[in-house]
Amino acid sequence: MKMQLVLEAPAKINLTLNVIGKRTDGYHELESVMQQINLRDKIFLHTGGNDIKIASNSAQIPDNEGNLAFQAAKLLYSKFSLNPGLQIFIEKNIPVGAGLAGGSTDAAAVIIGINELFDLHLQREELMQLGSIIGSDVPFCILGGAALARGRGEILSPLPEGPRLEMVLVKPDFQLSTGEVYRDFRMERVEERPDNTAFLEAWRQCDMIGLAAEMKNVLETVSIGKCPEIQLIKDKLDTLGALKTLMSGSGPSVVGVFTHRDEARKAWGIIKDQYRESYLVSSYNRGD
Ligand code: C5P
Repeated sequence: MKMQLVLEAPAKINLTLNVIGKRTDGYHELESVMQQINLRDKIFLHTGGNDIKIASNSAQIPDNEGNLAFQAAKLLYSKFSLNPGLQIFIEKNIPVGAGLAGGSTDAAAVIIGINELFDLHLQREELMQLGSIIGSDVPFCILGGAALARGRGEILSPLPEGPRLEMVLVKPDFQLSTGEVYRDFRMERVEERPDNTAFLEAWRQCDMIGLAAEMKNVLETVSIGKCPEIQLIKDKLDTLGALKTLMSGSGPSVVGVFTHRDEARKAWGIIKDQYRESYLVSSYNRGD
């Protein structure tokens, strides 16, 4: 058994997000291309003591059972009767309530970390299965890289490495609840849906124009209704030369995809003076 471990927990964006239908369990059936980005939390795990404790440098996330990382640790501790206890420290760099799977990626890192600390020898699929109990995005965060997600987000087909995406990510000073956005989603109001088959073809060919044409998120109009600032950010990023702008997940984060890193850097240099939570990011692949 190891005593301590430090893990990176990358954020996720949705390059496409389509809702296929509403399920009887209250969730929505999705088809979405998910991609990790190099905006990362850092997770410190120390074994010792009798129970699970969680702390963070951020006052915005719960330091108790409300934290998905705590729930993930608790799940593994009760399933495998683990001891001694665990101290979890989360260095928060990913914006909270942003549509970037910040809570899910911390939980994923804790699951991966406990597997390693306690030599549980669980396979990735088993870890993902456990992760799906904690949240819909957790299995993707365990898998990493880029993937096509189906079901409620937990049925994953990994994608080969695609073109490196150079992006500016902006989070307005506003948080959205995923549950609320899905609750207000109405299938009959959707005007534009991504064609994931066309997106994946463009992905294989590293065709940026083809990719940009299919980067669509059916939740965008719902979230813009709650936070009109999302549209303003999209317009601003367009003006700054983005090839495409898109809200991530249920929002309110917006990404602008640029053809070159230099263009992205230039746009970021301007928009960061207006939005405190602005980041220059790129895609993060398995093994990065
Ligand atoms: O799975 P997770 O707890 O992250 O989901 C948060 C909320 O988002 C769910 O309670 C549900 O209301 C909504 N959701 C959904 N369909 C999905 C994923 C999430 O309706 N595929």
